[in-house]
Amino acid sequence: MTIRTLYWENDTVVMIDQNALPHEERYLVCKNYREVITAINDMTIRGAPAIGVAAAMGIALGVLNLPAKSRGECLQDDFYRICDEFSGTRPTAVNLFWAIERIKSCFENVLRSGTSDIKNALVEEAIHICEEDIGINRQIGIYGRNLIKNSDTILTHCNAGALATAGYGTALGVIRAAREEGKELHVFVDETRPVLQGARLTAWEMKKENIPVTVITDNMAGFVMKQGKINLVIVGADRIASNGDAANKIGTYSLAVLARENNIPFYIAAPLSTIDMAIKSGEEIPIEERDEDEITNFHGVKTAPEGVAVYNPAFDVTPNRYISAIITEAGIVTTPFEEGIRKFFSK
Ligand code: MRU
Repeated sequence: MTIRTLYWENDTVVMIDQNALPHEERYLVCKNYREVITAINDMTIRGAPAIGVAAAMGIALGVLNLPAKSRGECLQDDFYRICDEFSGTRPTAVNLFWAIERIKSCFENVLRSGTSDIKNALVEEAIHICEEDIGINRQIGIYGRNLIKNSDTILTHCNAGALATAGYGTALGVIRAAREEGKELHVFVDETRPVLQGARLTAWEMKKENIPVTVITDNMAGFVMKQGKINLVIVGADRIASNGDAANKIGTYSLAVLARENNIPFYIAAPLSTIDMAIKSGEEIPIEERDEDEITNFHGVKTAPEGVAVYNPAFDVTPNRYISAIITEAGIVTTPFEEGIRKFFSK
């Protein structure tokens, strides 16, 4: 069962509306780049690699819709302005900035061409980034599936699945790959407060593929581990520092600490585009804070007193000492992470 997260069609960017899931499977058709920006901000599309692909397509769409100019160079100011607008959407997932850099290099390579050639090149590059992501996730799955044994029960958090990527997924890609080679598995997923990506999206994906899935609330993870129900934890990441510290959905750090306490391996599955070689440690990762309504409202019903103070960081950082291994498309890296990660980038 293939889930189409986002794609380019007839000069529009089409994406499954993740805010409508699991109740309704509907698609949003973005006809201009501002609609793509809104979709990233309001989490119609979310998940680090998917945000990157959406931005690449959104920038291409923005340039495509610019009025024809006599020379390619005349598009420059508008192009960089559109890129800046995308950079201002969600700060933590580095895949966003990685994708913007890819689109910028493409633009710079064709800058002296005619405007229609530039537009075509950007659209092609955005589609290429999208297709490439699916291949990368399949390769992550091939490496990662060896860490899973027949009959394992795996705990995951948030959604690092097909919906969070161009397709197949990172953490859920590893689970899919293990299933494809015939392993019997059971997935436990934290509901993932406050936006419920686990309960709404991961459970939906797993059910769609008949992979047995059990939803728990976030605060049950420790108890479930202590009961011996979990063999391993696999999650995705939004930004990994060059020393292996990894930012992921809020609550991931607690899971990693609980996994260590209970002698359970804790794995991160992520593409190389999630690794930020420009930062030394997780201390430097910017953490997005989101609207307080995500915490004080539940489906339009107030769940906290009016005016109460709220703190809503969307991500946390797991120090590398809690991570058993990071699974990438270039292979699996374990401690010392700094050395292993550096090797990936010096090949
Ligand atoms: O706020 P979100 O839903 O965009 O957060 C998503 C996550 O934290 C995912 O685990 C991460 O992006 C990895 S997706 C392959």
